[in-house]
Amino acid sequence: MPHLRSRISGLGMCVPPWVVSNDELTQWMDTSDEWITQRTGIRQRHWAAQDTSTSTSGLAVDACRDALAQSGIAATDVGMIIFATLSPDAVFPGSACFLQGKLGVPGIPALDIRQQCTGFVYGLSIADLYVRAGLHEHVLLVGSEIQSKALDKSTRGRDMTVLFGDGAGAVVVSATQVEDVSARSKESFLLSHHLHADGSFAEDLLFRSPGTSNRIWNPPELVPEREAYPQMNGRLVFQHAVKRMPEVALEALEANGLAVDDVDLFVNHQANKRINDKFAESLGVSPEKVFDTIDLYGNTTAATIPIGLAEAVKAGKLKPGMLVACAAFGSGFTWGASLLRW
Ligand code: UT7
Repeated sequence: MPHLRSRISGLGMCVPPWVVSNDELTQWMDTSDEWITQRTGIRQRHWAAQDTSTSTSGLAVDACRDALAQSGIAATDVGMIIFATLSPDAVFPGSACFLQGKLGVPGIPALDIRQQCTGFVYGLSIADLYVRAGLHEHVLLVGSEIQSKALDKSTRGRDMTVLFGDGAGAVVVSATQVEDVSARSKESFLLSHHLHADGSFAEDLLFRSPGTSNRIWNPPELVPEREAYPQMNGRLVFQHAVKRMPEVALEALEANGLAVDDVDLFVNHQANKRINDKFAESLGVSPEKVFDTIDLYGNTTAATIPIGLAEAVKAGKLKPGMLVACAAFGSGFTWGASLLRW
């Protein structure tokens, strides 16, 4: 008897056209192509025009249209929108509402989630549960970020600014009937999700203002002080990322009775090439099995995994029937992993 499960039926991505090379950053801050390449593996990132022409939901809508087209459904067939971002169009309402307006599908639920670099994995788990529960046939999930407008482009902010890029990646999560729901099944479906957070590190990667932990929501005297920009305890974040990402990937595999060798491709969150390499080393897999997009796009936070999936398909590295693991770590701290059969 077939079982109701969900699968990714469509995939899309969008990055703004402006490519910012490492060398270009040196006009604003004391940094170098050599430092950035050696410490992070990033060669370039895409940034949105620094004006009002592009918003986070504007990037998202293009990625979503691609995902809908690939899925072969119309926007009006979507039952729910989930929008993962740390760089919303506005403080409120949520970016999912802006996106819904742009897609022209009023009435359906529009949910923003805020799990930063782990946002896509959290979002995938929610989409999967709604579909598996029979509540929606199709859920549209997008991770989209315009970080460039929030970054401190002076030397003071160089530790963060060189890392981050803008972009969007979207998936349509659709109902599917699966005959064999075992972990070794070759049918395409989402197997499981494993989510974590530890708020005791909330201050180690944060963007405080605007927020109610300030005296007032958005104190004018903070601009241009440090709290008006994202801040990161980079070394600590690195240490936790290289521990938590392999750990949660193993948790996902163990929960399904699978081994590291069963995974065909890891499409993880992208923060630093050294994190990707340490991940491969910890699990004892060849670096070719850990898909990289960091050199081209930098860290696009909630968008890294769907962009990675789209790029992996384009590169011919992700094919039907493959077992894919997606691990993520980021601000919160939050971390998680999803396991899926492509
Ligand atoms: O998605 C989750 C979010 N983020 C992450 O996962 C990021 C995790 N952390 C990292 O990737 C790394 O810690 C960084 C790339 C942020 C930094 O690399 P690092 O090897 O840990 O460098 P560091 O912070 O120890 O800094 C080393 C030096 C410092 O100078 P001094 O104190 O040794 O003189 C920094 O001031 O490098 C300096 N530095 C830079 N120099 C040139 C920091 N950023 C830059 C820069 N260009 N952009």
